[in-house]
Amino acid sequence: MGFRCDLLLLFTTLVLLSTRTPTVLSDVILSKVDRRIDLTSQIVRVTSTLKVENAGPGPVSEVLLTFPEIQAKNLAYLKATLNEGKGKVKNTGSNLPINVSNPEELPPSLIFHSVSLPKALGEGDSLTIDVLAVFTHVLRPFPEEITQADIQLVLFQDTAHYLSPYAVKVQSLTVKLPKARIEMYTKLENTNIHGSDIKYGPYENVPPFSYAPVVVHFETNQPFAVAQELVREIEISHWGNVQVTEHYNIVHGGAKSKGEFSRLDFQARPHLRGASAFRNLVAKLPPRAHSIYYRDEIGNISTSNVWGDPKKTELLIEPRYPLFGGWRTTFTIGYGLPLQDFLFGSEGKRFLNFSFGSPINDLVTDNLIVKVVLPEGSDDISISTPFPVKQGQETKISHLDVAGRPVVVLEKTNVVPEHNQYFQVLLLPILISMNCIEVLKCELRPLLLQD
Ligand SMILES: *[C@@H]1O[C@H](CO)[C@@H](O)[C@H](O)[C@H]1NC(C)=O
Ligand SMILES: *[C@@H]1O[C@H](CO)[C@@H](O)[C@H](O)[C@H]1NC(C)=O
Ligand SMILES: *[C@@H]1O[C@H](CO)[C@@H](O)[C@H](O)[C@H]1NC(C)=O
Repeated sequence: MGFRCDLLLLFTTLVLLSTRTPTVLSDVILSKVDRRIDLTSQIVRVTSTLKVENAGPGPVSEVLLTFPEIQAKNLAYLKATLNEGKGKVKNTGSNLPINVSNPEELPPSLIFHSVSLPKALGEGDSLTIDVLAVFTHVLRPFPEEITQADIQLVLFQDTAHYLSPYAVKVQSLTVKLPKARIEMYTKLENTNIHGSDIKYGPYENVPPFSYAPVVVHFETNQPFAVAQELVREIEISHWGNVQVTEHYNIVHGGAKSKGEFSRLDFQARPHLRGASAFRNLVAKLPPRAHSIYYRDEIGNISTSNVWGDPKKTELLIEPRYPLFGGWRTTFTIGYGLPLQDFLFGSEGKRFLNFSFGSPINDLVTDNLIVKVVLPEGSDDISISTPFPVKQGQETKISHLDVAGRPVVVLEKTNVVPEHNQYFQVLLLPILISMNCIEVLKCELRPLLLQD
């Protein structure tokens, strides 16, 4: 079987390294590790709770997280937070700083990320951190090609032992699968299955860099919607409006469809004939979105499937044909928003505060380009993003403009819904002024110098 080779690749490298434990790491032990791997969508989310203990005399101020190189290249998002213990409200605001770090003594086939602790742990002290790692493109369709009548099966591989440079006293792993067929899973000592959860462990006193390969082969019919490219243009217009235009190039990233496609079969029995195909996507737009449209290369598609409440507006995007594995579609959605919903001021300055990623649910974006088109005359541009992105600048010229409008271009690869955070653009005070009708009731009104 093809996937055995990959497994060998992934884990032979690890055998080479358990011989020597570098002294720099030996003070830390993990007294408890609980890991949960969620395989219910194409985006794989691994949540780990680590109880970190300093068993040595020196202070410990950072903890290393380890990923095999082959997994690290698909790591889209990594977050570590302090776990304040049961009963307390989850500490949401403070992500711990994380750096990629490759300590010299450790093998290059492993990628390490170093989490900085809020304060150094003294001898015998411990604390608990929660780590979220989000991966894309790690569920491998197997078989790689299926017919319209076949179900889609995918493979996932990992290790039942938590891969770490530290010894682990007690650990367990839960793999959560969609509620569907499980073709095969690796059975080790202490393996149990409860419904669609596979449990490995508890395992006790496992040495550093220990690994125990596991493979799960299972059915999944979740939409594997991958935007190979998405260009989002956010244009701040003259009259208090933000116009958003999003150009999508989407592919079904699951098992490739082979053989003939019968629309008749699909329409008669969509769950049997094309279970893994998807017919629509849902975009969650901001509450006061208006002038919503959706068009493809042929023309506008009816926008009757928009519904909303005061908290959100939802748009149902239904391509002209269902998407099977390997099939693609390109389309554009556009909507207007009231500018004042996205402005905030601090220290006499005004900022646009806007979401970074796609509003479409459960979408993987391989390549995201966000363009913010500013009014003419904004030349001292300042941007703040919650994570590193590539930044550039260009000019957009339309027939009404004299000099053209400055455009900030932000680019990021491997984007998941966790990246749907807010970024800020400083707007120059000359462009936005406060128009106060009554005291305490101020209306924001953008004013262009030229007007
Ligand atoms: C992490 O990286 C930042 C920026 O490169 C640096 O200032 C900081 O000292 C690093 N922290 C650790 C713990 O290495
Ligand atoms: C599509 O709809 C948008 C918004 O309603 C409209 O501005 C545009 O002119 C329409 N395009 C066509 C080709 O009908
Ligand atoms: C940006 O907007 C979001 C959503 O409305 C809000 O939660 C966040 O606090 C805002 N950020 C800033 C810096 O105002």
